Amino acid sequence: MCGIVGCVSDEPVAGTLVDGLRRVEYRGYDSAGVATVSGGRIHVRKGVGRISDIEAKKKLTELKGTTGIAHTRWATHGGVSERNAHPQTSCGDSVAVVHNGIIENYVSLKRGLVARGHEFRSETDTEVIAHLIEEEYLRSKEPLRATLAATKKLSGQFAIGVVFSDRPDVIVGARRDAPLIVGVGDGKTFLASDVLAFIEHTDRSVFLDNQEAVEITKDSVKMVTANGREVVRRPTQVAWELADISKSDYAHYTLKEINEQARTVAGAAVQEPGRVAAFAKALVGASSIFITGSGTSYHAGLLMKSRLNQEAGIRCDAIVSGELREHDGLLGDKSVVVALSQSGETADVLEAVRGAKRRGAKVLSVVNAAGSTLARESELALLLNCGPEVGVAATKSFTAQVVVANMVVDAVLGKRRADGVAQLSKAVAEVLKTDPLVKKLVQKYRDRSDFYFVARGYQSPVALEGALKLKELSYLHAEGMPASELKHGTLALIEKGTPVVMINPTGPNHADSLSSAEELRARGADLIGVSDEEDGVYRHLIRVPKVEDRFMPVVEVIPLQLLAYHFAVARNRDPDYPRNLAKSVTVK
Ligand code: M6R
Repeated sequence: MCGIVGCVSDEPVAGTLVDGLRRVEYRGYDSAGVATVSGGRIHVRKGVGRISDIEAKKKLTELKGTTGIAHTRWATHGGVSERNAHPQTSCGDSVAVVHNGIIENYVSLKRGLVARGHEFRSETDTEVIAHLIEEEYLRSKEPLRATLAATKKLSGQFAIGVVFSDRPDVIVGARRDAPLIVGVGDGKTFLASDVLAFIEHTDRSVFLDNQEAVEITKDSVKMVTANGREVVRRPTQVAWELADISKSDYAHYTLKEINEQARTVAGAAVQEPGRVAAFAKALVGASSIFITGSGTSYHAGLLMKSRLNQEAGIRCDAIVSGELREHDGLLGDKSVVVALSQSGETADVLEAVRGAKRRGAKVLSVVNAAGSTLARESELALLLNCGPEVGVAATKSFTAQVVVANMVVDAVLGKRRADGVAQLSKAVAEVLKTDPLVKKLVQKYRDRSDFYFVARGYQSPVALEGALKLKELSYLHAEGMPASELKHGTLALIEKGTPVVMINPTGPNHADSLSSAEELRARGADLIGVSDEEDGVYRHLIRVPKVEDRFMPVVEVIPLQLLAYHFAVARNRDPDYPRNLAKSVTVK
C-alpha cells in the first residue's frame, strides 16, 4: 500500500521518479506526487488520480533538481485529496516526506507539535513526521541523525523517504514493518518500496532490515540500525528484468499474467531438491502445523492443507493470516507455520509469522519476491519464480503456489514426480484456448449481479478463488462455497437464470456434485460447468484438460481468471487497478 521512489543523481531526476512511480503504481493509485530539491528549496507537485493524468495536468517531470522523492498513495488517514497526497512538507518547508504505513500515535504527536507552534496543512498521519524531522534537523543539521531521532517518537509502521531543502545531495530513508530497498546504480542511487521502481536502471539492491535507516547520495549508501550503529551489507543482484514488467502486446498486465502461466508453472517447479526436502522434513517433525496467507495465497494454502491431511495423514490447519493469533494457544517451539505470499510484504502475514516466532514456532514460506521481508524472516523460503506480478489480482502467483505446495507435499509423501509439470504446462496452454468461450459467457451474463461458485473437496478452494477474482475485478457480487453447503441456506437465493459456476472434475466427488447440479437446475440455476467431462447437466461447459489430480486446480482456475478479467473489461473496469484495493497490503 503506497509506493515510494527516491533518487539522487547528477542529472535531473523528476522523469526517472515518475517512471518509477508508474512501476509501483500497483501499490496504490488514488493520488501521487513528487518533491525535488534545487536552489535551496523543495519543489512539490502532486494531484489526485492516476499518475498519467496527474502528469498531464501538473507536469511532474518538469520539476528541476537532481535529488527527489515521489509517492503513489492508497489512502489511510485523510481522504483522497491533493493536500493529503504525498510528499508532505514541514511548515518551514525545509523537509519533505513520503510515507508508506500508519503512524498510530499521530494524534498525540500532532497535539504536541501544534502546541510548539507547528502549522498543519493536511489530515494525514504522515505530516507529523515532516514536522518532527524538521525540529530535529534544526537542532542537529544532520539528516540521518534527525530522522532517527524523529522516528524514535513514532508508533506504528513506516517506510519513509525524506529530503531536506538545504541538502540537494541526500535522501534519508527509514523503515519499520514496511519494505524499503536501496538500488545502487552508476552515478545514481535509489530508494524504493519495490525493486521494480528502479530495475530499468540497476539490478543491484540492498534490502533494509526492519528498524534500519539509510542515507544515500549519488555514490554512497550509509546504513544504520535504529540506534545509529553502522550496518555493512553488500548489494544483491535481483533476477527480475525490465521485460518482465512490460505489458508486451496485451491490453492489461492481468491478461498478460494470465497468459504467462504455461511458462510460470514450469518455472515454479524449478526448485533445489535439498530445500524442498528440508521444508518437508520440518513438516514431518512438527507437533502442530498452521498454513497461513491472505486472500488468494490463503486459497493456495487450503489446497496444501487438503493434501497434507488427506494423502499424508498429517494434521494441519489453514488459517487466514489476520486470524492466526486466535490459535496462539496451539503454537509452541515444535510448531511450524507455513506462510504463503506473493509479495512477502502483506502486513497480516508478517504479523502472523512474527507472533508465531515469538511463541517459538519455526516459520517456512513460499514467496515470490526474493528479498521480501517474509523471505528474509523465514527459516527457509521457497521461491515461486513466476516473475513480477503487477496486476492487483493474483493470477500466475496462485498457480505457481499450487505447484510449489504440491512439490512440498510430494516430498512429504516421499514421491518425486517431475513429469506431471510438463504435462501441466501443456494443459495450461490448452485451457487458455477457452478464452473465446469465456468471452461469450460474459456477454450472456453481463447484466446479472450475483454469481455463485461451488465445488467439493480438493476443488473447494478453487470456488473461493473464482468468486474472489470476480468480486475484485468486476465489482460483481460473488460467493464461493462447498457445493454441500448450498442446501443449508444459499439455495434460497437461487432463482431462474442465476449463474452458478460448478467446478466438477471427474474423481471421487464427481457424482455428489452432479446431485448438487441437479438440485440447482431444479431451482432454475444456469449452470456453468468447469470439468474434464461433459455430463449433460450444465447449460454451458468450460471443458478443461485432465491432468494429475494434484494439479487440477491450476487448469480449473484459469478460465475463472479469464471470466473475471473479461467481466471487468465488459463493465469498463480497469482490471489492473481495481477500486479501493492495492497489490501489496502492507497495513493491518
Ligand atoms: O502478496 P500476498 O500473496 O501476501 O497477497 C495476499 C492478498 O492480498 C492477495 O492475494 C489478494 O487477495 C489478491 N489481490 C487477490 O487477487
